[in-house]
Amino acid sequence: MRKNIVAGNWKMNKTLQEGVALATELKTILADAQPNCEVIIGTPFIHLATVVEVVKGSVIKVSAENCADKESGAYTGEVSAAMIKSTGAEYCIIGHSERRTYYHETYDILKEKVRLALANDLKPIFCIGEVKEEREANKQNAVVKAQLEGSVFNLSAEDFGKIVLAYEPVWAIGTGLTATPEQAQEMHAYIRSLIAEKYGKKVAENCSILYGGSCNSSNAKGLFANPDIDGGLIGGASLKANDFKAIIDAF
Ligand code: PGA
Repeated sequence: MRKNIVAGNWKMNKTLQEGVALATELKTILADAQPNCEVIIGTPFIHLATVVEVVKGSVIKVSAENCADKESGAYTGEVSAAMIKSTGAEYCIIGHSERRTYYHETYDILKEKVRLALANDLKPIFCIGEVKEEREANKQNAVVKAQLEGSVFNLSAEDFGKIVLAYEPVWAIGTGLTATPEQAQEMHAYIRSLIAEKYGKKVAENCSILYGGSCNSSNAKGLFANPDIDGGLIGGASLKANDFKAIIDAF
């Protein structure tokens, strides 16, 4: 059966020292808790190796927020999937809307990132979601379908089984506007139906689909109560240990 997951996405926040302090605090407050979900923290590259050490012996797993679309070589400033793997991180967020928008990551670039993450034994957390104008024009289903077809529906069923999806309506990210539980459930069910069409019912049933976009301790319970919402990808509310813990407690 698929896993419930609460994953943090720190984005470009926290110095190394602040990140270590946050990971340490989270480890402490989760020490006696037995979360009913997998707990992941997504950190900037420079934190990965240190944070992996900090959270050792706890339930917390570590994710990168991005990886290069090239294997290795003369790509100044880039960080490869193999380098991420060597830190002990297990996951890699790929296709976040901020990467698509600000860094012009296309379907083909993201397809390559997913391929390289999988080749290096990292589990991609692949993000999809429509912008406000697309939702207003009722094009959200077509957008999400194209994003899946463009970057992950090329995978074998076995490889697709290793990825986690995150539906993040762009209009809800960092805006305080959350999709209603009904809007999110409707989209998650649609995404699962697309997976079933492509890979069959079993693969679809086993795929964890997270919701992201202004998810916080007040709305997490209502969102996670839906049959096709298997957890959350949390930005702002993952930057404070107690807020993040309260979302984990929603399960
Ligand atoms: P937010 O970000 O929770 O701050 O809206 C979510 C995300 O971008 O993953």
